Amino acid sequence: MAATLLPTLSPPVSRAAAAFLLRRAPLKPSHYLHPPPTLRRLLSSSSYPATPSIALCPLSTMPSTTAARAVPARRDLLMLGIETSCDDTAAAVVRGDGEILSQVVSSQVDLLARYGGVAPKMAEEAHALVIDQVVQKALYDAKLSESDLSAVAVTIGPGLSLCLRVGVHKARQVAKAFGLPIVGVHHMEAHALVSRLVNKDLDFPFLALLISGGHNLLVLARGLGQYIQLGTTIDDAIGEAYDKSARWLGLDIRKGGGPALEELALEGDPNAVKFKVPMRQYKDCNFSYAGLKTQVRLAIESKNLCTEDVPISSALEEDRQSRANIAASFQRVAVLHLEERCQRAVEWALKMESSIKYFVVSGGVASNKYVRTRLNQVAENNGLQLVSPPPSLCTDNGVMIAWTGIEHFVVGRFEDPPADDEPDDMQAYSRCLLTGESQTAFTIFTNYFPIFFA
Ligand code: KG4
Ligand code: ZN
Repeated sequence: MAATLLPTLSPPVSRAAAAFLLRRAPLKPSHYLHPPPTLRRLLSSSSYPATPSIALCPLSTMPSTTAARAVPARRDLLMLGIETSCDDTAAAVVRGDGEILSQVVSSQVDLLARYGGVAPKMAEEAHALVIDQVVQKALYDAKLSESDLSAVAVTIGPGLSLCLRVGVHKARQVAKAFGLPIVGVHHMEAHALVSRLVNKDLDFPFLALLISGGHNLLVLARGLGQYIQLGTTIDDAIGEAYDKSARWLGLDIRKGGGPALEELALEGDPNAVKFKVPMRQYKDCNFSYAGLKTQVRLAIESKNLCTEDVPISSALEEDRQSRANIAASFQRVAVLHLEERCQRAVEWALKMESSIKYFVVSGGVASNKYVRTRLNQVAENNGLQLVSPPPSLCTDNGVMIAWTGIEHFVVGRFEDPPADDEPDDMQAYSRCLLTGESQTAFTIFTNYFPIFFA
């Protein structure tokens, strides 16, 4: 027995994951003892940056009942990720080494265009309508069935609780039927951590700017689940400002307000309208976009543009140019606000952690080319490397949930499968959602202002 090596997840916490997987039966043939030479090399190589490292440990150190079967190596973990926090129903299967086996997103674009925003009850119904198909397609594309999975990860917040419940319900259904552990994932943490899938060299600590429809967060990521919030928005997030401005400008928002505005801005003069940069008098890292939104509305009104009655596709040349100028000027100032706060955040973060090498920019708005270019400049000016996932991983997706699930799973942060007698009652799933600080997997120390920066 002594000569046999068993790949396992390094102690102490990851023992939980190991123990769980060993209890499950049956495992696929590839999961049995004697990892092939390539797998052994991977397990013992130092090239993989994930936390914690995966170690080989002698069988004799494992409980005797588990000695007959091996825990899958990290590389062999198969995580299903489910995301329904807002208006995208998404699912994906990701392998432990970061290979994306499938990615499916169903967007509620028509609903968004019709109602000008997310209507929770309708969004919930739209999620409920497609969730089974989305998950089925993710498994089909990955050429897997539920029984092949190692665990299921699902967004538990923040987001619209009616919508979150649909994803949690589906995740628990699958987990219950196939005896799979569940990992509850914080949506914003997932936006940040997916950058570690994209760039395997990206290790903690790093600085992250997370920009989406509902959040503007600047965090110093010190370790998995350890985030110091350097700044947040005091009112609206930048994505909300893009979406509202796009609607007020009469743009076709079926592909999303942000992308529509970015496209029109290419035709405009970014210095045509003198918008005021928010919060310059506050020497902190917080954001504000409500005032800029109002400035856009006033600019539209002052130019007497009939944006409500005349969609951009029917606008006359001069009218279209005025709208493009407003779009470009808005974008310049909205992003300048990001640049200024990020510059200060880099300085703060480097004082706290001088070893920081990476600046992560993620979330839906990070798919904007102008945003990426300008923030790359901030990174370069400070000797940092920008890591911004490709657009499909910046906007809401199942991959980021599956990947964050893997990150937590391997260190033992997961829930056992639901009990066989768990009622299949949608109301009951509310208790699984992220509602209070006590349930957060994303430990943020809010309003952290180190004394020496005051
Ligand atoms: O992360 P995300 O997909 O969903 C939330 O968590 O909110 O972000 C959605 C936001 C929306 O406000 C959308 O308009 C914005 O990201 N967005 C963009 C672009 N693509 C998406 N904003 C500006 N430019 C884009 N290209
Ligand atoms: Zn998001």
